[in-house]
Amino acid sequence: MNLEIRLKEIRSIINSEKGSLAFFESNVDMPFAIKRIYYIYNVPPEEIRGSHAHKSLNQILFCPHGEIMITLKDGNTTETVLLDRPNLGLIIYGGIWRELKFLKADSVLVVAASDYYDENDYIRNWDDFMNHVTLGYWK
Ligand code: TYD
Repeated sequence: MNLEIRLKEIRSIINSEKGSLAFFESNVDMPFAIKRIYYIYNVPPEEIRGSHAHKSLNQILFCPHGEIMITLKDGNTTETVLLDRPNLGLIIYGGIWRELKFLKADSVLVVAASDYYDENDYIRNWDDFMNHVTLGYWK
């Protein structure tokens, strides 16, 4: 399977009395530098976001609160990953289709990305994605 799934345990300082702290550093805890952070919130339960691929963007996803099911497709195989704790990260490289199902109310998805927002890096149509896979064409 060539699906690029990378689960990442995030360094954490656990304190059962005062609360815990998790952190990650650009280039240290992930194999790329971070240029952008965004988060998705206020999503109704069972709603699906994403449904696109990126040509070259690399990202790491976290769910610091709630539960989000991530489905990843490389055009040949499908994998699902449940993000359900604050110190679990999922790295997604370019060329992977993703669907993000927000399972619980008030779930938050935080994404650290390797580049600035660029609509030209998106593939939002499944047939276009499969053409890219078939032709082995990634930017
Ligand atoms: P999109 O990435 O399509 O979100 P989803 O997770 O639902 O697939 O982005 C939704 C909209 O927000 C789209 O119009 C692009 C815009 N957007 C930005 O302007 N900057 C950003 O950094 C991101 C991630 C999205």
